[in-house]
Amino acid sequence: MPISDIRTKYLEFFRERGHAVIPSSPLVPENDPTTLFTGSGMQPLVPYLAGKEHPLGARLTDSQKSFRAMDIEEVGDNRHTTFFEMLGNWSLGDYFKKEQLPWFLQFLTETIGLDPNKLYVTVFIGDEKNAVPRDTDSVAIWKAEFAKKGIEATDVLIGSEEEGYVKGMQGGRIFYYDAKKNWWSRAGVPENMPIGEIGGPDSEVFYDFGTPHDPKWGRECHPNCDCGRFLEIGNSVFMQYIKKDDGSFAQLPKQNVDFGGGLERIAAAFNKNPDVFRIDVFTEVIALLEKFSDKAYDDARFQRSFRIVLDHMRASTFMICDGVRPGNTDRGYVLRRLIRRAVQHTHALGIAQSKEENSMLVRAASLFIEKYKQAYPELSGDEVWRTVTGEIWKEEQQFWRTLDNGLKELEKVLKEQTAISGETAYTLFTTYGFPLEMTQEIATSRGIPVDVDDFKERMKSHQDLSRAGAEQKFKGGLADHSEKTTRLHTAHHLLLKALQLVLGPHVKQRGSNITQERLRIDFSHHSKMTADELHEVSRIVNEKIAEGLPVAHVIIPKVDAEALGAEHEFNAKYPDMVSVYGVGASGKSDLTSSFSLEFCGGPHVENTGELGTFSIQKEEAVAAGIRRIKATLS
Ligand code: ALA
Repeated sequence: MPISDIRTKYLEFFRERGHAVIPSSPLVPENDPTTLFTGSGMQPLVPYLAGKEHPLGARLTDSQKSFRAMDIEEVGDNRHTTFFEMLGNWSLGDYFKKEQLPWFLQFLTETIGLDPNKLYVTVFIGDEKNAVPRDTDSVAIWKAEFAKKGIEATDVLIGSEEEGYVKGMQGGRIFYYDAKKNWWSRAGVPENMPIGEIGGPDSEVFYDFGTPHDPKWGRECHPNCDCGRFLEIGNSVFMQYIKKDDGSFAQLPKQNVDFGGGLERIAAAFNKNPDVFRIDVFTEVIALLEKFSDKAYDDARFQRSFRIVLDHMRASTFMICDGVRPGNTDRGYVLRRLIRRAVQHTHALGIAQSKEENSMLVRAASLFIEKYKQAYPELSGDEVWRTVTGEIWKEEQQFWRTLDNGLKELEKVLKEQTAISGETAYTLFTTYGFPLEMTQEIATSRGIPVDVDDFKERMKSHQDLSRAGAEQKFKGGLADHSEKTTRLHTAHHLLLKALQLVLGPHVKQRGSNITQERLRIDFSHHSKMTADELHEVSRIVNEKIAEGLPVAHVIIPKVDAEALGAEHEFNAKYPDMVSVYGVGASGKSDLTSSFSLEFCGGPHVENTGELGTFSIQKEEAVAAGIRRIKATLS
């Protein structure tokens, strides 16, 4: 079955059960400071899971384009990909466990036709410290559902993943694991969640491919074992907790379901083949790679390179379509890495550099566009095709030039030395951008060893340094939803409006970052602000605070919001119904009397009187035509 059929059947299954089908959000998140890329279906829905009303109701479903950069190094085995489609369904305080678990089982076994005997499930063991009980409710539901299929499902207490390798299957079908495995939040386990973050226990479904256990991972096999016998194909998160200011957990006002299942993995289970690269969307690209390289995908010596090219080109195609361009920072750097690694692995497959703009990578991207443009219409049209293939071709050529210089240097070293030190490999990488894997590939083919451990040591000390810097830099938007951050968020709206009043309507927000300590806004303006201008801006903000203006939150048609002149991000795509905050209005009827009106997901205070005293700490340039202000409330 092509993955497009599984996707359609899934959306249809949930549409029939009262869910609104919503479009995938872009891979580049809007207003989410926690990550560079959308990595799960729930990310764009966080405000609604936290309690806000969704314009399309309390039951939603979609197939979300997702990208997980942390998996780049993992790509090469039969299951890891950076880009994937996450099938999702959500209950925003509507249905809960007793609907969700049977529905997913029904979808898998009746709609897709998986054998229920091959399915195993895991549930949350409980957490005394955070007063979260053991999930016996889910166990009772699973037992009843399996019983309907003639399967007696017994439960087994495991605990940690490590304990799983000792305790093993014990003839069970339902397995209790700790928070590392059966608790989900964007930040992971409860201890890692920032204040204001939402999360909850979850229940995962695994497909058993029946492959023999590999004891290299641990003595006994269990559902969360890494040997490859079991593949996780869906996760129902019971999103019902929020972390409070004092670090303890409170129930959210409503109990939600956040379900996510990897489309590629469900397809792999349907194919009864654990290799996710054997799904239909890759078939033609594999054939093309085989033809160009004269090597077989099934040849174990080359399979990793095949998979890296497949995964990275698919991810690059979607990323460029969503506006990312190769570069040296942030998202651009991730894209650059993907394209360069793909070039490197076509080289490892023996595919020569192309002199014309119909390289292997360009052709692969074109095939992916064809495969996906129906499900993701943003991939349609000549212009997108030209942009995607053009960017890949440009980056590819630039990388080949780098490689040429690095190759010359490496040849010199190879003539003079009988081994390549970590330092030499590191210099080749940092000075010439010449990747370690290529140094290894070429050196080992001539019987010359490379000191990889020393290279990695050097890389690690370098990364530790840059990571410390990057943590600060990657943040945009709101750091958390605490009271202090929320107050600064409302002050941020007042500030943008005041800047427009003082400097002119050309002022547009270009970036923002709000923590508990301060707000930061980047905005378009051509020159340094004078002391008088700064003073006037502060005066206006404090005046609006003193007036004790109400803050209205409404969900209205996008066209109405635009007609009212609400501020919004240039070029961003918004749904037909949008969330808008009006400072100085009390509701829908008097939005026109707002002092500030913005498309925004919140949260905000109810009245500006709660803000305190506003002061600007700093005004500076960040780029040509972009200024930055840092300000505080006291
Ligand atoms: N949000 C959950 C996940 O990403 C469903 O696994």
